[in-house]
Amino acid sequence: MTFVITENCINCKYTDCVDVCPVDCFHEGPNMLVIDPDECIDCTLCEPECPVNAIYSEDEVPEEQQTFIQLNAELANQWPVITEVKSPLPDAEEWNDKPDKLTLLKKEW
Ligand code: SF4
Ligand code: F3S
Repeated sequence: MTFVITENCINCKYTDCVDVCPVDCFHEGPNMLVIDPDECIDCTLCEPECPVNAIYSEDEVPEEQQTFIQLNAELANQWPVITEVKSPLPDAEEWNDKPDKLTLLKKEW
């Protein structure tokens, strides 16, 4: 079992989640983080830390966000590990809960 970061992280990237992870399984892209499913130990600590509720247990990912399970695994292999909290993206508050953010995901640094 792993935890998964979903669409609402895109263009927000608060990074509060990073602070509580005991095994450094967060990886950073330009406008989103993902969790490495091979590293996550299912401790549950990160889920309540996200101010925009973007983190779900793998078995509770909403139907329309299922694609993020694979995306987390794939992008964790490409993006660098992030272990320290940083400032959210500049317009994070405005982007919270905006629909269809997947099209805005930046995969390349
Ligand atoms: Fe890290 Fe625990 Fe969250 Fe997995 S559930 S990403 S181990 S904080
Ligand atoms: Fe993203 Fe929430 Fe972490 S916005 S960076 S999953 S705290």
